[in-house]
Order: sequence, then C-alpha cells, then structure tokens
Amino acid sequence: MLPDLAQIEKKALQLLESVQDEASLEAWRIANLGRSSLLMLVFDQLGKLAKDERPVVGRRANEVKRALESAFSDRSNTLHETALQHSLQAERLDITLPGRAIPHGRLHPATISLRTAIRAFADMGFQVYRSPEVDTDEYNFGLLNMPPDHPARDMWDTFFTSMPNVSLRPHTSPGQIHVMRQYAPEPIRAILPGMCYRYEQINARKETQFYQLEVLAVGKNISLGDLKGTVSDFARRIFGQKIRTRFRASYFPFTEPSAEYDFECLLCNGKGCIVCAGTGWLEIGGCGMVHPIVLKNGGYDPAEFSGFAAGLGTERIMMLKHHIDDIRYFWSNDMRFLEQF
Ligand code: DAH
Repeated sequence: MLPDLAQIEKKALQLLESVQDEASLEAWRIANLGRSSLLMLVFDQLGKLAKDERPVVGRRANEVKRALESAFSDRSNTLHETALQHSLQAERLDITLPGRAIPHGRLHPATISLRTAIRAFADMGFQVYRSPEVDTDEYNFGLLNMPPDHPARDMWDTFFTSMPNVSLRPHTSPGQIHVMRQYAPEPIRAILPGMCYRYEQINARKETQFYQLEVLAVGKNISLGDLKGTVSDFARRIFGQKIRTRFRASYFPFTEPSAEYDFECLLCNGKGCIVCAGTGWLEIGGCGMVHPIVLKNGGYDPAEFSGFAAGLGTERIMMLKHHIDDIRYFWSNDMRFLEQF
C-alpha cells in the first residue's frame, strides 16, 4: 500500500504540471481526487487492511490527499493568474492614443467677406441696418425712381413670386428707402448688408444669389468728394494703402450723377490678366449721389439734404484677396473649397 501511495502522488503531481486550462484542471481533479480515483480507492480499502497497517496507511493516504489538494489549489491560482495577465495584455486599453478631433465649425467664406466689409465701414462710423430680402415692387424699383414699365428695371433679372408685386430683392438698394423712412429727417450713415437674388445665367462671375452691401449717407452738404473719399478709404482699409481705385461715369436710376468704381486687380497687380479681362481693374460696385426723387421718397427735402449711396458685391472682396477666379465656388458646397477659410 505504501509504495502505491507514493506512486499515486508522484503520477498525479506529474500530470498536474501539464494542465494548462480550467477544463483540464477539473478533469484532473475528478481523475485524481474524485470518488473513483486511485487515492479514494485506497481509503475504501483501509478496512480490509491488517489492524497495525491501517493507521500508517491511513495517515499516509491523508498526507497524499492534502498534498494533491494543495497542489490543485496552487495550480488553480496559477492558471487564474496567467489567464488574468493574458487578458490584461490582450485586451489592454491604450489610453495614450490621441482622441479623435472634434471638427470645428467655421464661417462660410461669403460670410467672412461680408463681415470684413461691414467691419471696415463700421470703423468709419456706419451703422448696420437690416432690410427685407423679399420686398414689394414699389420698394425694389418704384421708390428708387423706376416707375412700372421703366426700361431700367431690365437691368435686374428679377425673381418674381406668385404674389402680385412681391419679388426677391435683386439688390440692397430698396433698403435705402426703408432706412430713410424710419429716420427722416435725421442724418443717416448706414450700411445695409444682405443676400440678393437674380435670375442670372450662372457663370464664373455671376450667381443667382450673392451678398451685397449698400452704403448710404444722408445729411446736409454731403458731396461727391465724400463719396469718393469713403469708397477709396474702404479700399485701403481692406487691401492696404497702396491699392488704386478709379471711378467711371455710369447710369443708375436712383443716383445722379452715377458712377461705377473699380479696384486695381490684385491678381495681376494692375498688369492685366484673364480675371480682369486684361484691363488691370476689377469692377466692385455702383455708386452716386442720391437722386432728389429718391431723397423725397425717403422723406427728405432735396433742397436741404443731399446724400451718397454705393453698392458692392462682397464676394468680390474674397475673390480679390484669395485669388478665387470663379464665383460659383461660393454656393456649390464643395468642402474642399469651404474648408480653406
Ligand atoms: N443696386 C445696384 C446694383 O445692384 C448697385 C448700386 C449702384 C447701388 C448705385 C447704389 C448706387 O447704392 O448708388 O446693381
């Protein structure tokens, strides 16, 4: 019996060493410590032994049992520990990985452009006045000295609505009437920014929607010199002291005299290129002295008051600054373009 027990213990411990997972550990426990294991058989047979042999074998059998049980629990602990280490390694969370950047929103380039222009005029003491994007025929044209059927209305390819006499404003000039009617007879130094809509054939220079900024000054003794000085100063505030500007005589029904003003083309520094059609100049907008009829429609006595007005397409500023040669980029929603600003 005694050599048997030594054999049982040695064999069992050897087998235990090759146990690598929980399932085979349990199988090992059943085979070596379970009811039908060799060791339990020894216990079963104790009764059959000679009286003097019984306590010796019994004690030894118990020793072997305890040895196997403690080896079992050691092995079990080791297996747990390795499994834990393994999962710690394999499923490790790398907290040093940089987080995903949250994309920041940004201003649309047309908005940046509009705000740049607003800021420059605000620095010169002009206040922002908001006027409607959808307006009546009377404001869009009539009160601006273009009665119904006046041929000058053809200068604006207007979007009409299904409501009679209501159209999307094709320019910001109707805002002149709104602001004058609200403030007459106070002097006015205002800018009227906003979206305009025209039924245009879209090309590199023309879009169906664009921002305009209307400039209006009304008061006593306002002269053409004030207009020229203001527009030229605006150009310098945006493009620097060296920029050259010029005025060309023109016609608008709501100003007299009227002019168009150009800024030197910054894409070629006035040498002439495709964008400025070889002239070295880019047309920025129209301007003039407010027509007496328009002053009167606004509530001012033209014998006492005078004023100047100007309108500019503000996307042009961004185009000049960033050498953008096609206005269609602004509203075609191409992220590759928009994300550059
Ligand atoms: N409203 C004109 C346009 O959109 C631009 C303009 C010309 C505005 C002369 C003015 C002005 O205020 O005096 O074509």
